[in-house]
Amino acid sequence: MTEISGSRTLHRLIYTSRVAIPTPDLDHEIGGIIRASIRNNRQVGVTGLLLVHEDHFVQALEGAAEVVMTTYRRILDDPRHEQSKVLSAGPATEREFGDWNMCARRMTPGDDAILDALDARKVFAPATFSGKAALRLLTAVRGIQARTHRAALI
Ligand SMILES: Cc1cc2nc3c(=O)[nH]c(=O)nc-3n(C[C@H](O)[C@H](O)[C@H](O)COP(=O)(O)O)c2cc1C
Repeated sequence: MTEISGSRTLHRLIYTSRVAIPTPDLDHEIGGIIRASIRNNRQVGVTGLLLVHEDHFVQALEGAAEVVMTTYRRILDDPRHEQSKVLSAGPATEREFGDWNMCARRMTPGDDAILDALDARKVFAPATFSGKAALRLLTAVRGIQARTHRAALI
């Protein structure tokens, strides 16, 4: 990944949103999102992780500030989700998700430990998470994703 410095300081934005349209095949939809994300993010040096749990999305986007904001604005316009809320945004010292231009993980029952750790198993309400808690959640998911070597695409 190209080093980013000076006015192009590394930024990380984490937001959460809800699936907008009840879709019979959410996995298929997510597959399309990830394919477009990898194609676009690779071109502009954006990396990140998209977590899908129930009808919630939680996504981290990292890269130069300008491209992170451009990417987020485009994502915001996407009718497939709604109620987007930024949980944290600002400079970051290093990439936490540098292995992936974008990677999606849908929580499985085996991932309960993560939710337990966040005390978020009974009611998963990412819109109430602090930026720190959201990053903790996504880095925990990153760890599982890396360990299980599951395909980056759902
Ligand atoms: C939850 C969610 C996350 C998304 N994440 C990204 C992303 O990281 N990068 C991206 O380019 N598009 C992302 N998209 C898709 C964009 O909204 C948009 O459809 C896409 O960038 C259009 O790309 P295209 O013009 O190359 O088809 C996301 C969409 C949703 C609903």
